[in-house]
Amino acid sequence: MKATVLGAAGGIGQSLSLLLKINCHLISELSLYDVVNSHGVGADLSHISTNTSISSYLPENDGLQKALCGADFVIIPAGIPRKPGMTRDDLFSFNAKIIASLAEGVARYCPGAFVLVISNPVNSTVPVFAETLKKFGVFNARKLFGVTTLDIVRAKTFIADLTNKKPQSFRVPVIGGHSGATIVPLFSVGAPEAYSSLSYETKSALIHRVQYGGDEVVEAKDGKGSATLSMAYAAYALVNQILTAVTSGLDNEVVSYIYLDDSIKGASELKSKINGLDYFAIPVKLGKEGIEIIDSQILDRIDQAEGDMLEEAIEKLQGDISKGVSFIRGQ
Ligand code: NAI
Repeated sequence: MKATVLGAAGGIGQSLSLLLKINCHLISELSLYDVVNSHGVGADLSHISTNTSISSYLPENDGLQKALCGADFVIIPAGIPRKPGMTRDDLFSFNAKIIASLAEGVARYCPGAFVLVISNPVNSTVPVFAETLKKFGVFNARKLFGVTTLDIVRAKTFIADLTNKKPQSFRVPVIGGHSGATIVPLFSVGAPEAYSSLSYETKSALIHRVQYGGDEVVEAKDGKGSATLSMAYAAYALVNQILTAVTSGLDNEVVSYIYLDDSIKGASELKSKINGLDYFAIPVKLGKEGIEIIDSQILDRIDQAEGDMLEEAIEKLQGDISKGVSFIRGQ
C-alpha cells in the first residue's frame, strides 16, 4: 500500500507520519507532501530502520502529482489549526480553499484512493472534498472518511478517569459531527454501567468535556496550536482499522463522518431519522471496498438526553454541511 500524508510537516502530520513509519507494516511507501519542510521531515523519518520507504514532495516540480500518483490512502491534516478563542468554524474560509485544491489533486491523480480528512472544520471540509470529487465525476462515498476518532478517544479516556477503569474497557460511539454541540457521545450505549453510576452533574460535565475537550488543549498550548499528538494517535488508529479491513476483508467497525449515499446499506434509514442530513458521524462496518453497512439502528438505543443532544446537533450540522456544499457549488 502507498499512503500519502498531505500537510505532513505540521504538528499532526509529523507525529502521524512517525506512527505510520514505525507501526504500519502494511504501508510499503509513505509519501509526504507539504508546502514547507516536507524534505526535512522526510529525511529525518527515512533514517528509521523499518521497511516502509519514505518519499517527500513540495509543490514545485509537480510535487502534489508525484505525491499522490499510485496512492491507496490519502490522509489530510493540511491547513491552519485553532488559536485560543477560535471555533473550528473560524477556520473555514482558509482551510476550505486548501481542501478543495487537494481534493482536485486526488480527483486527478488517485481517484480510487481511500481518503481521511482531518482538517477542520470537518463538518464542512468533508462536504467540500466530496463536492469537488463529484465535480470531477470520481466521488465514491464508501472511501471518504471525516476523522472524528479523537472524540471517541477522549470519551473513553474521560469516563475511564472518572470511574477508575481502563479506557480499553469502553467502546463509546460518538455520533453527529466534530464540533461543540454537534458532538454527541453515546455513553448510555457504549458504557452503560459505568455511566449510570454517575450523578446527573457528573454526566453533564463529562459530556461537555468530550464536546469541548479540544479547547483544553488549545488553551494549554496558548496560541501554539491545537491537539496534535492525541490527534495523530486517533488518526493512526483509524488508518490501521481501515487498512486491516481493506487488506483482510475483516468487517471492522469504525465511527466516521461520512456521506450518506443511498447505495450504502442503512443510509436511507439513517437519513429518515436525522432530518435528511447528507453527512453524519455514525458507526459503519468496513469491507475490502470501504464502507459496507451504516448502523442506523444505534439511534433506537439512545436515551432521552442523548436524543435531545441529537436534535441540537442535527440543526447545527445542517448549516455546516450547506456551507461546505455551497462553497464548491457556488464557484
Ligand atoms: P499545523 O499548522 O501544525 O500543520 C498544518 C500543515 O499544513 C502545515 O505544515 C502547513 O504547511 C500545511 N499546509 C498548509 N497548506 C497546505 C497545502 N495547500 N497543502 C499541503 N499542506 C499544507 O496544524 P495541525 O495542528 O497539524 O492541524 C492541522 C489541521 O487539523 C487543522 O485544520 C486542525 O484544526 C485540524 N485538527 C483536526 C482534528 C480532528 O479531530 N479532526 C483535531 C485537531 C486538529
